[in-house]
Amino acid sequence: MIVVTAPTGQIGHQVLDRVLDAGRPVRVIARDPSRLPARARDRAEVVRGSHQDPDVVAEAFAGADSLLWLVPPNPHADDIDEHYLGFTRAACEAVRAQGVERVVGVTSLGRAYGGHAGLLSPAFAMDSLIEGTGVHYRALAMPYFMENLLHQVEAIRSQGVFFTANSAGRPLATVATRDIAAVAAELLLDGSWSGQGAVPVAGPDELTPDGMAEVLSEVLERPVRCQELSLDAYRMAMTRRGMSGAWARGLADMVAAQNDGIYDAERRTLVTPAPTGFRQWCHDVLRPAVLA
Ligand SMILES: NC(=O)c1ccc[n+]([C@@H]2O[C@H](COP(=O)([O-])OP(=O)(O)OC[C@H]3O[C@@H](n4cnc5c(N)ncnc54)[C@H](OP(=O)(O)O)[C@@H]3O)[C@@H](O)[C@H]2O)c1
Repeated sequence: MIVVTAPTGQIGHQVLDRVLDAGRPVRVIARDPSRLPARARDRAEVVRGSHQDPDVVAEAFAGADSLLWLVPPNPHADDIDEHYLGFTRAACEAVRAQGVERVVGVTSLGRAYGGHAGLLSPAFAMDSLIEGTGVHYRALAMPYFMENLLHQVEAIRSQGVFFTANSAGRPLATVATRDIAAVAAELLLDGSWSGQGAVPVAGPDELTPDGMAEVLSEVLERPVRCQELSLDAYRMAMTRRGMSGAWARGLADMVAAQNDGIYDAERRTLVTPAPTGFRQWCHDVLRPAVLA
């Protein structure tokens, strides 16, 4: 049995699709099962509730061989460490108690960075907590999701601009969520791996945000520019959008670490990048969203 958390999310729904395609028994944890696609409701076992709830994970992990573990973002959280670890503690207990064999976790590149890295630091603490159970673990380690730009479709469409606190002239490693889902599904379907380790998943590009704007302009056939914000301006903009002070600070501190090169060492040593380039992703995903 394969268990998928966050099955309605960007990564989770694509993982679920692949596991269903493979015809393997799958169980999902969903707060609102009506948000699942019809074929998932027909063919997957559904445990209703949040994977933060100890009773829900105990029920969902019974008899599970493999688990996709993903802590959902909560921009209203007052404590970013407690958000990630609160979710993960109950899961670790259930992994132990139910004898889950393999866990594939969604985390970040840059664990060896050492310094404070905002929202990325609790993700690394989550990895340590899971590893402490002794379960076979693969930490899928990702840089900036290309899909983050979907939050800015309106500004791109109406003003020809996207905003970032990432240095406009510094290369930023990126990845498309479909490539993350492909690697996650492959690991969930494979019962032969063991031990604990990281699996970096990053796309083939070395683009700066300014370079991304150029690609966007070409793909959309209209000028798009990147507007760089200071870290303070970015943090305040996120707070104005309704995020908690702690989450907004976590985001700003994460960008500071990205500007300081948190992804660079692992990105440089990546032998086989994930297949989806930024231009391809813009054609397939961003352009239809902007033109919709
Ligand atoms: N964005 C990046 O650049 C980046 C980079 C590296 C790593 N990451 C990591 O990637 C993960 C996010 O993945 P994603 O983009 O696939 O997430 P997502 O699309 O935001 O999906 C998360 C799903 O979790 C569910 N959810 C939300 N709150 C919940 C709660 N309290 N209890 C149970 N379920 C809840 C939601 O489903 P329902 O609303 O249907 O319940 C939602 O569809 C995070 O852990 C983040 O740290 C992100």
